[in-house]
Amino acid sequence: MDEKTFDERLKAAQEHAESIVRSFLPKEEGYQKTGLSAMNYSVLAGGKRLRPVLLYVTATMYGAKPALYEPFMAALEMIHTYSLVHDDLPALDNDSYRRGRKSTWAVYGDDQAVVAGDALLNFAYETALTAFSCAETKEETDRVVKALQLLASNAGIYGMVGGQVADLESDKHQELVDEKLLTFIQEKKTACLIDSGFVIGAILGGAPKEDIQALHQAARNVGLAFQVQDDILDVTGDAAVLGKSIGKDAAEGKATYVSLHGLDAAKKEVQDLTDEAADLLSHLSVDGSFLAQLAASLVGREK
Ligand code: IPE
Ligand code: IPE
Ligand code: MG
Ligand code: MG
Ligand code: MG
Repeated sequence: MDEKTFDERLKAAQEHAESIVRSFLPKEEGYQKTGLSAMNYSVLAGGKRLRPVLLYVTATMYGAKPALYEPFMAALEMIHTYSLVHDDLPALDNDSYRRGRKSTWAVYGDDQAVVAGDALLNFAYETALTAFSCAETKEETDRVVKALQLLASNAGIYGMVGGQVADLESDKHQELVDEKLLTFIQEKKTACLIDSGFVIGAILGGAPKEDIQALHQAARNVGLAFQVQDDILDVTGDAAVLGKSIGKDAAEGKATYVSLHGLDAAKKEVQDLTDEAADLLSHLSVDGSFLAQLAASLVGREK
């Protein structure tokens, strides 16, 4: 497949993810309208939609039914967005810009941003649960159960939230962060939601267990590479392109892959992790080449 075809396919997948995410957003009405509007503000600010795109790509690879995977695409982006809304709060990273506009707390206040995050997390499950009504066989119902289990565990204290806990604690004890702890943090806070993107679609499509295993491994690599690149961009990135502030990690002495190993080693790590992922994806029982190209396209990303 030539580069143009890949770009076109990626653009189509991003547009599809965008329309699916929008289609599941709540109406802004009633006494809780402020919260509904803060939820929609955060989600509609944009973003790359990487996680729902990954979910869509893998679901398509295994021929999953759209009615089963589309609610999960939206739910995963809601969980990711809530993680950003809370991550930006003054009590956490204290970032006023996100996705090219003011952070949710900077517009709605930190009180409403906290509950908007709560609401998004809960609404994600309300959304994913609608897949049950589209399951037509016992087998499909079982797949939806498995997909929900993974969505939940990757988001919670043994997943993304667990990574955020260790990340926040490490900010207060930067000298104690070694390679092992940093890998734990980056795997949990970032790779776990990427894992949901890699594996939920495959589960819903009934992928063989060897493939599920390989997708978990590839997701770990791509997720770690994604966070190392995020750390790189905090140093080398352009805030206007990224849509969020830069330079804060270094200013605050945060332990990142870059602060531990330097920029050149960080760039090499992103490439090595991605190459390993491509190798894993080349052994799937279905064609994983678009997914591998998608992972490769994240290597030098500027946003
Ligand atoms: C930002 O994720 C948080 C990290 C895990 C580094 P993204 O870079 O995917 O953010 P959006 O969704 O495009 O805004
Ligand atoms: C965030 O890591 C990961 C999340 C779970 C939100 P960062 O704190 O580095 O993400 P950015 O740089 O604010 O997007
Ligand atoms: Mg953070
Ligand atoms: Mg942050
Ligand atoms: Mg960052």
